[in-house]
Amino acid sequence: MLDKSSKVAGRVLLPDYVKPERYDLKVTPDLIAYTFDGLVSIKMTTKDSFSDEESNKITLHAKELMFRSAKFQTEDGKIVAADEIHVNMKATTVTFIFSDSIPQSSSITLVIDFVGCLNNQMAGFYRSHYTDKNGNDKIVASTQFEALDARRAFPCVDEPAAKATFLLTLVVPADLECMSNMPESKRVTVNDNKVEVSFLESPKMSSYLLAWCIGEFDYVQAQTASGVLIKVYAPRGKAASCQYALDCGVKALDSFNDFFGVNYPLPKLDMVAIPEFAAGAMENWGLITYRLVDMLIDPATASNSQKQRVCTVVCHEIAHQWFGNLVTMTWWDDLWLNEGFASWAENYAAHEAFPDYQMWEQFVVDHLSRALKLDGLLSSHPIQVPIHHAEEVEQVFDAISYCKGGSVVRMIKAVLGMENFRKGLGNYMKKYAYGNTETLDLWQAWEEVSGMPVSEMMASWTEQMGFPLLKVLKEDWQDDKVVLELEQSWFLADGSDTPDDGKDKLWTIPILTCTSAGTQEDMVLMREKTASVTIPLRSKDDWVKLNAGQEVPMRVQYSEEMLSRLSKAVRTKEMKSSADRVGLIIDAYALVKANQMMSPESLIRLLSGYKDEEDCVVWQGLSDVLGGLEMVLSEDEKIFVNYQDFARSLVLPLVEKVGWEAKKDDAHLTSILRGIMVSLLCTFCSDDISVKQEAKRRSEAFLEDPTNVSVLPTDIKVPVFQIFLKSGGEKEYDAVKAYYYKTNDNAERKTVLNSLGSAEDEKLKVATLDWTTSGEIKLQDFFYAIGSVSRSGKKGRVISWKYFQDHHQRLKEMLGNSNPSLMDAVIVMSAGSFCSLEKAEEITKFFKDHPYPKNERKIAQMTENMRANGKFLTILQASDLSKPEFWSSL
Ligand code: BES
Ligand code: ZN
Repeated sequence: MLDKSSKVAGRVLLPDYVKPERYDLKVTPDLIAYTFDGLVSIKMTTKDSFSDEESNKITLHAKELMFRSAKFQTEDGKIVAADEIHVNMKATTVTFIFSDSIPQSSSITLVIDFVGCLNNQMAGFYRSHYTDKNGNDKIVASTQFEALDARRAFPCVDEPAAKATFLLTLVVPADLECMSNMPESKRVTVNDNKVEVSFLESPKMSSYLLAWCIGEFDYVQAQTASGVLIKVYAPRGKAASCQYALDCGVKALDSFNDFFGVNYPLPKLDMVAIPEFAAGAMENWGLITYRLVDMLIDPATASNSQKQRVCTVVCHEIAHQWFGNLVTMTWWDDLWLNEGFASWAENYAAHEAFPDYQMWEQFVVDHLSRALKLDGLLSSHPIQVPIHHAEEVEQVFDAISYCKGGSVVRMIKAVLGMENFRKGLGNYMKKYAYGNTETLDLWQAWEEVSGMPVSEMMASWTEQMGFPLLKVLKEDWQDDKVVLELEQSWFLADGSDTPDDGKDKLWTIPILTCTSAGTQEDMVLMREKTASVTIPLRSKDDWVKLNAGQEVPMRVQYSEEMLSRLSKAVRTKEMKSSADRVGLIIDAYALVKANQMMSPESLIRLLSGYKDEEDCVVWQGLSDVLGGLEMVLSEDEKIFVNYQDFARSLVLPLVEKVGWEAKKDDAHLTSILRGIMVSLLCTFCSDDISVKQEAKRRSEAFLEDPTNVSVLPTDIKVPVFQIFLKSGGEKEYDAVKAYYYKTNDNAERKTVLNSLGSAEDEKLKVATLDWTTSGEIKLQDFFYAIGSVSRSGKKGRVISWKYFQDHHQRLKEMLGNSNPSLMDAVIVMSAGSFCSLEKAEEITKFFKDHPYPKNERKIAQMTENMRANGKFLTILQASDLSKPEFWSSL
């Protein structure tokens, strides 16, 4: 297990001989000149010994700020001015050098007068614009501080462990509203049109959680059972679209109150939709901010997948109010404590609120599968990832921290059982409230309630990257039981040889199994390389599935015998759990890709066993597998023709059943399933006359009259537009694009951006890319359109990659200063759809010649994945899939 001193070594931190206790911050923005004045008084305690060098110096974080003056006042009232102020742009710090030394073992108040820029980069204190319903340009000024941008708004110790309280005052135009983490405490008119608004002092918290926003808003409100007032704000005129997020918020807050046994600690909770926003949402304590599409739900038009997205985002951010805000990781290397736990908890609360969403079944495809996809690469990283310079953390807001993190939390819950799991969390919350923790503290909380070796078991999952492949070495089928000999080894996505330093990797694996009789009660913990397990059977020809419920982030390799029993259990629906049915097929796909472990022929045969499958979650997985094969096989026309027929034979019967038409009594997942099926039609059947006609009829009727929601329900809108555009020309393209300008619903605009790239004509694909960077599309949105071009097929990916190379300078100018996740998205959307070794080389070379230091990790992962897909193609080509007889034998 990691010891503390090696964890701490190498962290670049500010010196801790002065420690902020309270920030009293006043901000006066100029919403016309896009600047702001800042005045901060920081109450600091000082340590009892400083070095000589430190005795008259204070260094704080600061970025893109200018300083007018600084001074400190001692306890006895002496005022000492700063003689020199040094800004270090590279380290994003400012150092004040005073004319006299700082008193030791005491407290001082440091007062700094500074100026900043109200930027348009969606980071720090920034501005966003939108057009109101009368066509006027409106501004919202708001903040986004995580991970390292509080320092763009005021000088501070911008480290998660430097918790302090915050007293904020905003001086703003009197006709605008403003909110912060805490309720308003005082409002004074400064002159005719400005007010000075103060907020109550916050509890002790980390700087990245401070927030405020200023603008014109409408809101809806409700009280939770525990008496917390939740208000949900949107740009004026959209209050009705806030209701769903409010309902989710009320339910989630009450759920977490019960779950943690610690009440939500603040007097209120506001949630605000911000017109321009880099991420999906941000959990600022008491003031959660959202991208418009991730909070607003138009009750007349929203799709079920949009509702589910909003619900999970709301639940995720509310979970952070405890996990992250009340108790915070000490340093960014434990970011997963925030994001992994919230990724688990979003499903918990969404499931409590809407059991019919089947969040836990969906977890397997949404989280577990995404985690394993990334974690099979050599360019992955451990959940607990060393972070030296804080900026490195920006690259680990990824599927490892979120999805693998969430998956290991779900696994430990399966091992401990809900009661101990919950009790441990409750104790942890109480013990560390308003403080900081590291991963081990969480393990210990569970260890104490369960008496199980949690830290030992979990270290193998969070301290080493990668995950195990569990292989069945031997099997002995008897009348009433089967004895299995199991072996674990490190799974690599492309089947390459295990690097020498990885041969000894071991995980502590809970072995959970199921048979026709259901899930076995007994759980074995496998700690060694091999293990033997005995599983009771109902009969000699029963089936056995390992990793029951897909509770463990690993893959399983079966023998042909076991696989054929399992395949039958899928076909006959004897395997009842959709998590198990989908787990089986996504594992199989990954094993074929990793070459040694399963043949392409067996995969296709297994797939054909899903021909009567009707479950939405299983189809999410099937659609990943079918789509993945499509992408790779599109490079080989001969196989592709046969494969396409095969895919059609799987897809068409269910399309026939669910149809295109929404029905009044559709279940939540039925609507989502319809979206998946029409999207598969788009991939495999868009040349069918009847499909084209149906898409054309529906698109045209809708574009003619967008209030006619029933002719084109939102759950199928993107794929229907895609089919329409694919088979259409300029006229159809213009009609869809015109809708972007006609609607004032951002979710609908996103639909257009996600569709446009499907237009077949190359000129139109280029036109889409030109449009995105013309300045007309918000920075936060243009990766959607780039993705729609690159994923539109072979031509599309060539065009989007060329476009990126031709315009990378401009893209860098536009995005380089925003959150790096936006550039990540642009790079992956532009270049990520290839599947050949040559392209992987070409792309690697391009980024070597044109370095993107903040996106290096993403680029390495993208190209490694591409190489794996390139190898995959050769595996498929060398198999019987290239023989027509194989396909006709199915
Ligand atoms: N803390 C993050 C927001 C964030 C992300 C800040 C990256 C800085 C850098 C927030 O809690 C979050 O995880 N948001 C997700 C939504 C969630 C449902 C997965 C997002 O923005 O996509
Ligand atoms: Zn989060």
